[in-house]
Amino acid sequence: MSGLSRKAILGLHSPLARVVEVHEALASTQERARVLARAGTPHGTLVVAGIQTGGRGRLGRHWGSPAGGLWMSLVLRPGIGARFASRITQTSAVGVARALREIGVEARIKWPNDLLVGGKKICGILAESGIRNIPGPAKEARLEYAVLGVGMNANLDPEDLGVPDREVTTIRSELGRDVDPLILLRALLSNLDNELGRITYFEAVLEAWRNLNCTLGERVRVRRYGETVEGRAVDLTREGGLLLATGDATVEVFEGEIEHLQQGKDA
Ligand code: BTN
Repeated sequence: MSGLSRKAILGLHSPLARVVEVHEALASTQERARVLARAGTPHGTLVVAGIQTGGRGRLGRHWGSPAGGLWMSLVLRPGIGARFASRITQTSAVGVARALREIGVEARIKWPNDLLVGGKKICGILAESGIRNIPGPAKEARLEYAVLGVGMNANLDPEDLGVPDREVTTIRSELGRDVDPLILLRALLSNLDNELGRITYFEAVLEAWRNLNCTLGERVRVRRYGETVEGRAVDLTREGGLLLATGDATVEVFEGEIEHLQQGKDA
């Protein structure tokens, strides 16, 4: 994103920006951060790119990343067991939603971690994990690192994203002006750090997620194990799965993408 320098980012003194790389162009900040993570870079390594030529979204999708967006990946070492890795998904969604609200954008979370404004996507989050198995009977696998990718449609017009078939919006379009990239990044890093700091008190994170979401109460459709399930989203499980009430049963959805079937309060 133009207007961001390594020096200015280091000047934020964020625990999530101890090591910083700023690239004009990169295939994918996610791939670069993963290389750094495998090489042992510390928690709080941030990679930012002005444009990405091979940006990746969830479920293997292409992620258009032209100039004006904030395309970034963070290396995290949250010190949790591998079985809790999925908590990063909801935790980061809460952090990003709060950051957007701080700069005046009333974003809501669509399960599990898309950020929407008025039903249009403004930011996508991609959380990927590296797991280390500790030998020995009683040892549980640790989460060695996570790479958290944030794709924020910031100072550009929705048309610039080149996805006419998808409902997307941008900070420029919502605020009617551009945002100072350093103010946006500061809000993101500080809210992500706050939320990640309480990942072990996950019930509190989930409560915040419930207050910020636009999925619960909605009728949704999800593709699961090759079949399509429709139901009303009723709540989250203790680990952030989505509970759907179908006519005759309650089913849990752990991952994937849901479709909201009607326009609700904010989506
Ligand atoms: C989604 O599908 O909603 C997640 C999109 C994540 C995109 C970001 S942009 C920065 C980082 N680098 C990538 O290649 N992807 C993530």
